Amino acid sequence: MKISLPSQLRLITDRSLISDLENRMVEVEKRIKQATSHTDAIVNEMSSHLANAGGKRIRPVLTLLTAKLGDCDAPHVLDAAVVMELTHIATLYHDDVMDEAPKRRGVDTAHTVWGNNIAILTGDLLFARASNIVSGLGEEALLLQAQVFEQLVLGQLHESIGPQEGEEELDHYIQVLKDKTGSLIALSARLGALLSGADAKYQEPLQHFGEQIGVAFQLVDDIIDIQSTKEQSGKVSGTDLLAGVPTLPVLLLKKHKDAESQRLLDLIENQMSTETLPEILKQLRVHKVMAEATEATNKWADSAISAISVLPDGSVKTALVAFAKAVVDRKG
Ligand code: IPE
Ligand code: IPE
Ligand code: MG
Ligand code: MG
Repeated sequence: MKISLPSQLRLITDRSLISDLENRMVEVEKRIKQATSHTDAIVNEMSSHLANAGGKRIRPVLTLLTAKLGDCDAPHVLDAAVVMELTHIATLYHDDVMDEAPKRRGVDTAHTVWGNNIAILTGDLLFARASNIVSGLGEEALLLQAQVFEQLVLGQLHESIGPQEGEEELDHYIQVLKDKTGSLIALSARLGALLSGADAKYQEPLQHFGEQIGVAFQLVDDIIDIQSTKEQSGKVSGTDLLAGVPTLPVLLLKKHKDAESQRLLDLIENQMSTETLPEILKQLRVHKVMAEATEATNKWADSAISAISVLPDGSVKTALVAFAKAVVDRKG
């Protein structure tokens, strides 16, 4: 089976690096399939639902890429990549229940097919599978994975609870993004370096890179929720808005005090429904908050690139820079 690298990596110009990553991803994909399948046919259908539906696989690819800083053939590298995608997929089952999302990766979400209980339990099952595999990767990887798991859940919790009295809404929001999305992308970047035995001094910069790029990635996700069509993103536009999840464009809108902006904000905050959503999306798409949100994502990507200045010049660093740039460019 041929695996094409996610579009995030299309800016990499080193053809041999690309084909090496693609070859390794074939094995990672095989292991993802194994880890998401089950001997019970019904459970199998549920647990393999999202893995089979596709996805960009940016986390495992990032692990393989940073493993090129050391010995990419080291025994635990491929499994680390598998654990990153499994953990991610498990969170998606839960996240779609929380956000009442109808579509994911172009298919019906698990909870719309089987109901909330099954979707939650399937997410748990995949977390259990990820834990099984990570237990074989050594104590440090195990601890890092456990810590990130906690951070990720706290991010989702804080997003659900919302900012506390006196807490700046935008600061709260960025912290949520670091936790719910940045943490796992950061670990994906770090584990590659750790498990390939790369120079230990690269681990923190890579983690930092992953976190910053994770924030940029999630901010772009917010923009996509408003801007893109289902064909581009595999998700339904306005899902975050409809669920009342605060996103950067809406938070920025609050800072605009002109009457038109305030009317739009009132629509979003007090009159949101499936009936009003198309009009809200139409108005938001042409509002200047979209350009402001894009500018903010570019800043996070630039800061990610600065974080890896200590890496040796070469194909991996160039590819990571390309990755950072492509993340803010994505349309789906
Ligand atoms: C979706 O992640 C959830 C976020 C953290 C934005 P991805 O955009 O990586 O989703 P897939 O794996 O390609 O489906
Ligand atoms: C997903 O966040 C983050 C995690 C799964 C931890 P969102 O809810 O913002 O992402 P999408 O839009 O559903 O992919
Ligand atoms: Mg969601
Ligand atoms: Mg969510």
